[in-house]
Amino acid sequence: MDTLLIDGGRPLRGIVPISGAKNASLPILIGTIVAPGEHRLANVPDLVDTSSMLSLLGRIGCPSLVGDVTRIDTSRVAFCEAPYDLVRKMRASVLALGPLLARCGEAHVSLPGGCAIGVRPIDQHLKGLEALGCRFELEGGYVHGRVDKLRGTEFRFDCVTVTGTENVLMAAVIAEGTTVLENAAAEPEVEDLAAFLSGCGARIEGAGTSRIVVHGVPTLRPPPTAHRILPDRIEAGTYLVAGVITQGNVRCEGVRPSDLAPVLDVLRTAGAQIECGEDWVSAGADGRVRAVDVETAPHPGFPTDMQAQLMALLSLAKGSSRVKETIFENRFMHAAELGRLGAQIHIEGNLATVTGQPHLSGATVMATDLRASASLVLAGLAAGGRTEILRLYHLDRGYERLVEKLRAVGAEVVRGQEGRPKFAVNAAVA
Ligand code: EPZ
Repeated sequence: MDTLLIDGGRPLRGIVPISGAKNASLPILIGTIVAPGEHRLANVPDLVDTSSMLSLLGRIGCPSLVGDVTRIDTSRVAFCEAPYDLVRKMRASVLALGPLLARCGEAHVSLPGGCAIGVRPIDQHLKGLEALGCRFELEGGYVHGRVDKLRGTEFRFDCVTVTGTENVLMAAVIAEGTTVLENAAAEPEVEDLAAFLSGCGARIEGAGTSRIVVHGVPTLRPPPTAHRILPDRIEAGTYLVAGVITQGNVRCEGVRPSDLAPVLDVLRTAGAQIECGEDWVSAGADGRVRAVDVETAPHPGFPTDMQAQLMALLSLAKGSSRVKETIFENRFMHAAELGRLGAQIHIEGNLATVTGQPHLSGATVMATDLRASASLVLAGLAAGGRTEILRLYHLDRGYERLVEKLRAVGAEVVRGQEGRPKFAVNAAVA
């Protein structure tokens, strides 16, 4: 099992190129089946999750070719199933529901089950699709969906759900009539999916806000030019925190600064030095930051996907911070691992109180989920001594070329093998 070995305590300085957004790529990749034909997508990140989604497309009968431009042929769909062996590896496979119902009138998708950060139900996905005329049965751990004719509707989500909004949107685009979605997710990744679908001929207004209006069209076709996936704001936020926590300065290039606004506001409040250009953002510090209180919220609030990374930074802040997680019920697992590095974090329900320390010191820690892993990397980069992070596969799901990008800004980091001796006897004394 791969591990990451970090010799921390070095200020990181330099430029990090930001990859395409994982959470925009996943809905857009599967969304290609709503528009039969040859699709071309630029800036798709090379991640375990995007590979899993391309495998799912292959299983459905849509071959693909990855490269600078990823090509997917959705001219034919042979199967309308997202099997358990794929869904259990990547819960975002549930995004196959809307597109399969839109394309085939039926869908058989394994229930994703929970994950480390929470139960992750899909009741809102099903309610929204039912409002469009779909019928579902749950049997054998699968959701079996059918629809004769998708009809426009007015639907209000009971809670803001990113993939729920995306699933319903991908069916509504070819429903007969107009669909109005209230309390929809306003994340930039939803907006990028809508931009892709509009490029295929869909008629969508209000994407990126909580009210999305869709005028259904009979058919969609691949966009005439390649759709370029928007930059990953969470990857960028992670590297910006790396610049601040190591008291260096990191510049992320190829980003949309407006997508990072809630993260930049918090970093500025903490005393980080932030600069923005048209498509770049830099962040740094020349000392410990100040404690800040943060509450996660749907966009344009502070993103839950940056909560763990911020907690690593606050572990070294001057003073005590309160971090409230309002999106997921179990997204503080990184706290115990940060504690092994010397962080002082007290958890009470969905509120974490972080008492900043002057230093952290390296240790072996274990990743539990994607963003918790990123948090441990950040803490390891700032901690004195060596940190080894186990279960690296979590990181490989969401961070493209992580070691290469970190080494380019001065980090001492290598991939290791769990259990391999790390400390060779010094030949001189052997
Ligand atoms: C998306 O997950 C992201 N994943 C997550 O990123 C992100 O953390 C999350 O949105 C919140 O921003 C992708 O886009 C692939 P939700 P999603 O549905 O859509 C409840 C990462 O690290 N809910 O917005 O699954 C749910 O339990 C990942 O990249 C229902 O109750 O999240 C949660 O408490 C992790 N019923 C809240 O809503 C439903 O039908 C938000 O979940 C759906 C959701």
